[in-house]
Parts: sequence; structure tokens; C-alpha cells
Amino acid sequence: MSDINQKKLEGFVKQTGGMVAAGFNCAISVLGDRLGLFKGLWDHGPCTSEQLAQALSLHERWVREWLYHQTCIGQVDFSDEAAMFSLSPEAHAVLVDQSHPAFLMGGYDSALAVFPAVEKLEQSFRSGIGMSYDDHGPNCACGIERMGAFTNQYQLVPELLPLVPGMTERLTAGGVVADVGCGGAISTIAMAQAFPNSQFIGYDTSENALDRARANVAEARLTNIRLVNPFEEAMPSADTFDLVTTFDVIHDTPYPDALIADIHACLKQDGYWLCEDIRGFESFQENLRNHPIAGLLYGFSVMVCMNSGMSTADGAGLGTLGFTHDLAKEMTAAAGFTGFLQLPFENTMNNYYLLSK
Ligand SMILES: C[S@@+](CC[C@H](N)C(=O)[O-])C[C@H]1O[C@@H](n2cnc3c(N)ncnc32)[C@H](O)[C@@H]1O
Repeated sequence: MSDINQKKLEGFVKQTGGMVAAGFNCAISVLGDRLGLFKGLWDHGPCTSEQLAQALSLHERWVREWLYHQTCIGQVDFSDEAAMFSLSPEAHAVLVDQSHPAFLMGGYDSALAVFPAVEKLEQSFRSGIGMSYDDHGPNCACGIERMGAFTNQYQLVPELLPLVPGMTERLTAGGVVADVGCGGAISTIAMAQAFPNSQFIGYDTSENALDRARANVAEARLTNIRLVNPFEEAMPSADTFDLVTTFDVIHDTPYPDALIADIHACLKQDGYWLCEDIRGFESFQENLRNHPIAGLLYGFSVMVCMNSGMSTADGAGLGTLGFTHDLAKEMTAAAGFTGFLQLPFENTMNNYYLLSK
């Protein structure tokens, strides 16, 4: 005990308390999203707990305690004089507005969805074998879909595809595209809507993700998308696609080298592979010192990405920050790609690589 520095101990307790509060906050924020509390506060605030509860037809006592928690944690504002609660424009962007680049509610969905995985992961730490995406249930896929939605829905077609030489013209005329690891197919839908003369196949190994994708495609009323589980219908082995896209897939697939080889095989000779993957440094030490959200991403990795990459006995387990620029260059060259370019597209979370044969 004598070695303990009291000031440091107090600081550590405070930090740990904040982490525990953040754990509770995942569940309480998801409730706020599902019950429309954040949106209601934006629409009706500044307001009292009675006014908010009434507007949303909820029980006032529960709403009041939710507001107390959300205020103490800093997501909701409280005015002392008026004794009213409100949501700031910044909180609205992050917690409510799905069309804002800062929207992060999907992170809470995914974090909460993986809490039950703790039971299985105890065993994984002993056996080495992790969990597939589907082992987490449907909410994890849903959270991931919401997290990536801004780029996939609003930036892919107008900003990213024009960086691929001739691709907008090619798809306008009519091409064939594979969106591999399509998740909820937000990216596939954005492309299929923009290029009605082209055909799209969304591949995903997760049935939960494919369920989301089927519902989203049906809602968009598109007939130029086919959704496929590659376990049931493998990607074609001959030159087929003008464009292959992967949005945050390679780092969490158990066999990244096999997938990269499959992508190489199914691309036309003059086709392109647009690969989005997590932006990170080449070493843990650099991530520790310089990555602004390394803690969040390594957390995601243990629970979701590396977990998925280790879901088979011989899985590569690259991890969320594991498919670095240098490794991407090395692995794609080994598969036969001769062109490797990092696209000049600014994104806080991801890098964008353009690969050609
Ligand atoms: C992080 S999620 C990204 C989903 C989607 N692209 C997005 O941006 O929202 C990765 C997805 O890749 C899928 N996946 C992993 N390995 C795959 C493979 N070998 N073939 C097809 N899909 C795969 C997972 O099931 C999961 O849905």
C-alpha cells in the first residue's frame, strides 16, 4: 500500500468511474435512440421531464431519471434558471442526425450488442477461437450499418467513385459490380440507384447482415441488386467485374489473403478494386502515441473485428487496426495486383486504396 501515490490513485479511480459510467451509457443511450428521447428533446426542448414524457407518451419518472443521467454524463444540457433540459446542435449531429458525418449512434448499438459476448469470449481467450458476426445477433450488424452510412450513402457516388479512372462513365453505360462484405447494402444501394444500367451483387457471409440488406433493398425498390452469401454461391473465378468494392471488410475476415485472391480473380483485366479499410499507424507504439481513437478501435477489435478474424481455428485475426497501408500493399501485391494507390480522400476513420491488375 505504501507504494501507492494517493493523487494518482484518485485520478485512476475517477478515470475508471468514467469508464463504468460509459458502459451504462451505452445501454441508456440506445434506449434514448429507440424511444425517440434524443429526437424528442431536440424537437420539443428546452423542456421539463413532464413535457418530454407527455410529448412521447412515456412514463415521466423514467424519463426524468434518464435526463438526470444524460445531463450528468454530458450528452444533454440543463438550464438551472429555467430548470429545463435541451439538446445542443452538436449532440443532435452526433446522436440524432443520420445524415451528419459525425453521427455515431451506431457505435452505441454495436457496443451494446456485443456485451453478451463476454460469456463466450472467456472461452475464446483460452481456445483462441472467436465468434462470427452472426454470433452477436442482429443488432451488431445494424450498428455497423449505421456507423458507415454517411460515407456509403452520401460520399461514395459523388466523391469517391469519381476518383476511380473512368468508373462513373463505365457504370453509367452499364457495368457489373461486386460489393463484397456489403453489410446492410447501404453502399450497394447508393451505387445501384446512381447507375441503373449497371448490375450489382452484394456479397456477405453474415445472414444477419443479408437480412438487413434484403430489407433495405426492398425498401429502395431496386431490381439491379442481387444479394449473395458466398458460402452458398462463391464469387466467380473468371474475370467478371468492372468494379469490386470492400468497405471495412478485409481486416475482419478470417482469411484475408484468400479473399484478396478471390477479388483479383473475379476482376476484369481493366477493372478496379476500391478498398476502404481502417486508418492506423504501422505499429502499436505509434497508435498508442498518435492515434486519436486507438482505445475505441482496439476495444472494437477485441469484441468484434479481431474476434471475427479469429472465428476459425486458423483465422488471420488481423484486428481493426491490422490491415495497415504497408500490409495492404504487401498482401495485394502477393495476390497479383500491380497497381496500388492510396486515394486522396479525407476520412477520419478510413483509408481508401485503389487496386488494379
Ligand atoms: C465491418 S462490416 C462492414 C459492412 C459494410 N461494408 C459497411 O460498410 O457497413 C464487415 C462485413 O464483412 C462481412 N464479411 C467478412 N468476411 C467476408 C467475406 N469473406 N466475404 C463476404 N463478406 C464478408 C461481414 O459479415 C460484415 O458484414
